Amino acid sequence: MAASDEMKKAAAEAALEYVENGTIVGVGTGSTVNFFIDALATKKDDIEGAVSSSEESTARLKAHGIPVFDLNAAGPVPVYIDGADEINEHGQMIKGGGAALTREKIIAAVAEKYVCIADQSKMVGILGKFPLPVEVIPMARSYVAREIVKLGGDPEWRQGVTTDNGNWILDVHNLEIMKPMELEDKLNNIVGVVTNGLFAARGANIALLGSPDGVKKYE
Ligand code: 5RP
Repeated sequence: MAASDEMKKAAAEAALEYVENGTIVGVGTGSTVNFFIDALATKKDDIEGAVSSSEESTARLKAHGIPVFDLNAAGPVPVYIDGADEINEHGQMIKGGGAALTREKIIAAVAEKYVCIADQSKMVGILGKFPLPVEVIPMARSYVAREIVKLGGDPEWRQGVTTDNGNWILDVHNLEIMKPMELEDKLNNIVGVVTNGLFAARGANIALLGSPDGVKKYE
């Protein structure tokens, strides 16, 4: 296994500690979360089930025999476990590299605690080197792109990708995000934007980052 995968797997397995018996677990999307789902399967009889942020994660959870609930029918979600494309020391993140940002943000909003799992390469000083994903209603793509240019970004349509919600993604390059909460708000206010991948207003409470020296915890 590649060294970065070893670090992702170690972080994912460390997150099991935050899963409470008898509860519904919020599950994100991505390669790190796939390791988490595999680890969660070892205690599937101890949990009630999961709520899932993507069709991909739902399929993997079900393949392991873990019940997946509709969020509307689920009770409290004590913990949400998900990865990140970038995270800063305040737990603010860029997410959506896997195009699952909208459902991820919804479950993150519902959950009492967000535990971010990643390898240490995701930790950055300033967010924005990773292109910021923005999910848009298809007919608004060009309009939203023009508005993003006015904010100083360089949007690129992720062609060929349709989200689980039937929408499209603009990846915004060349942003140096000095005020993540302000930019998250501004992007949300553009008509036609469904969600943007800045998780600043609701960031991670805990980050477990795999490194060559083991898993490091930030909170
Ligand atoms: C998906 C996400 C993922 O959390 C993010 O892309 C990180 O993925 P990976 O664990 O594969 O590095 O936001 O929309």
